[in-house]
Amino acid sequence: MTDDATRRTSRISGFHKLRVEQRIDHVAAFADLGDEHRRQLAAPSNMDTHLADHMIENMITTIAIPVGIATNMRVDGRDVLVPMATEESSVVAAVGNSARQCYESGGFTTSMSGTEMIAQIQLLGVPDPARARLLILERRAEIERICNACDPTLVGLGGGFRDLDVRRIDTPAGSMVITHIVVDTRDAMGANTVNSMAERLAPNIAAWTGGRTLLRILSNLADRRVVRARATWTCAAIGGAEVRDAMVAAYHFADNDPYRAATHNKGIMNGVSAVVLATGNDTRAVESGAHAFAARSGRYRSLTSWEVTADGDLAGAIELPLAVGLVGGAVKIHPTARALLAVLQVGTASELARIIAAVGLAQNFGAMKALATEGIQRGHMSLHARNLAFAVGAVGDEVAEIARRIVEGRSINEAAAAAALAELREQG
Ligand code: MEV
Repeated sequence: MTDDATRRTSRISGFHKLRVEQRIDHVAAFADLGDEHRRQLAAPSNMDTHLADHMIENMITTIAIPVGIATNMRVDGRDVLVPMATEESSVVAAVGNSARQCYESGGFTTSMSGTEMIAQIQLLGVPDPARARLLILERRAEIERICNACDPTLVGLGGGFRDLDVRRIDTPAGSMVITHIVVDTRDAMGANTVNSMAERLAPNIAAWTGGRTLLRILSNLADRRVVRARATWTCAAIGGAEVRDAMVAAYHFADNDPYRAATHNKGIMNGVSAVVLATGNDTRAVESGAHAFAARSGRYRSLTSWEVTADGDLAGAIELPLAVGLVGGAVKIHPTARALLAVLQVGTASELARIIAAVGLAQNFGAMKALATEGIQRGHMSLHARNLAFAVGAVGDEVAEIARRIVEGRSINEAAAAAALAELREQG
C-alpha cells in the first residue's frame, strides 16, 4: 500500500494469496478500522458466551461460518470491500471475479425505492367488507397519529407513517379486510416498529368496523423497499459474443421455467444472504421477500434480467426487496457484524441494501457464465478437493498438495484423498 488511492481501491490482485493476518491488515487499512474492530476480526471464535445467551433462548454454543472479502466491487462510483459469510466454496470468488470483469466499465449503479415497511392487520367477521374498507380509509389522519405516537424517535429521525392501504380478500373462510400500514423505518429493518404499530392500531380497527382483528404482523414482501442494481460487461471482457449469447439464453431459460428460476435465484441469494448474514441482518426475511417478489406476476421468475446492448455488450440488472438495517437487533449488538459493517463503510441502510443488490447481480453473472461455458463442477471440484483433504486430516501445505493430486487423478472423493495423503506422507 503506497498511497491513499491504492489503499482505497477494491482492485486487489492476489488478495487470496495473502495470509489471513495480511488480509485483515489490508481490510483494516482500507476501511480505517479502529483497534477494537480489528481485534474482533482477528478472533475467529469471536462471540462472547454471555452475548450469545442473551440473543436466543436455550443457547448452548455458537457455530462459526467463514467470512470472506469480495474484492473488485465498485458501487455507485465507490470501491468497497464486501464481507460475505458463507459455508459454500466458490461464492466469494465468483463475486470478485464477476466484479473484476465489469470494474473498467464502471462497476455497479444502484437505486432504491425507499425504506418503507408494510404491516398487515387482518379483520374478520364484518358483514359489509366494502363499507368496512372505506371506514378504515376515512381514518387515515387518526391512523397516522396512532402509528407515529408508537415511535416518536423514528419520527424525529424523519421516519414514521407514510401510507395506508386497505384490501378485501375473499377466502374459503369468508371475506377479510386487510389493512396495510406503510411506515418509513429509515435505517432500521423495522420489524419491531411496524409490529408494535399494528398491534396498537388493531383495537381501533375492530371498534370502527364492528369486526374482529386477528393477525397483526409485518409483511416480508417488502415491495416498498425495492433495490435495483445494474452493470455492463463488455463483450470483450466476458470472452466474446458466443459466451454473451449463451448467458442471455441461460437467463431466458430461468425467466421462463420455475424449475430453473429456483436454482438461478438460489445462486443470487448465495451472494445476497452472505452479506445479509455478515452484517447481522435477517436472512430469512430477505429470502422470503425475494422469492415472493420473484413470483409477483403470478409466475415465479428470475430476479435478474440480461440483454445485449446496442454496442454488443452484456447488460445485467437485478431488482429485489431488501429489508436490512444498520440499527436494532443483532446488527447493533453482534460485535463481528459491527466490525464488518465498519469494513463496508456505509452510513445508511439504503447504502447497505444497494451494495447487497450489486453482490446479487455479480453472483448471478458468475454462475451464469460458468454454467453457460465450462459448467461449474471444475471450479467447485477443486475447492471441494481442498475440503476433502481437510476431512481426511491433511494439515498445512499438505492440503493444497492433496487437492492437486486428486483433481489431477480425477477421483475427487474421500477415499482418493485418504490414499493421496498416505502416499504423500510415505514419500515425505
Ligand atoms: C450453487 O450454489 C448455485 C448455482 O446452482 C446457481 C445457478 O445455477 O445459477 C450455481
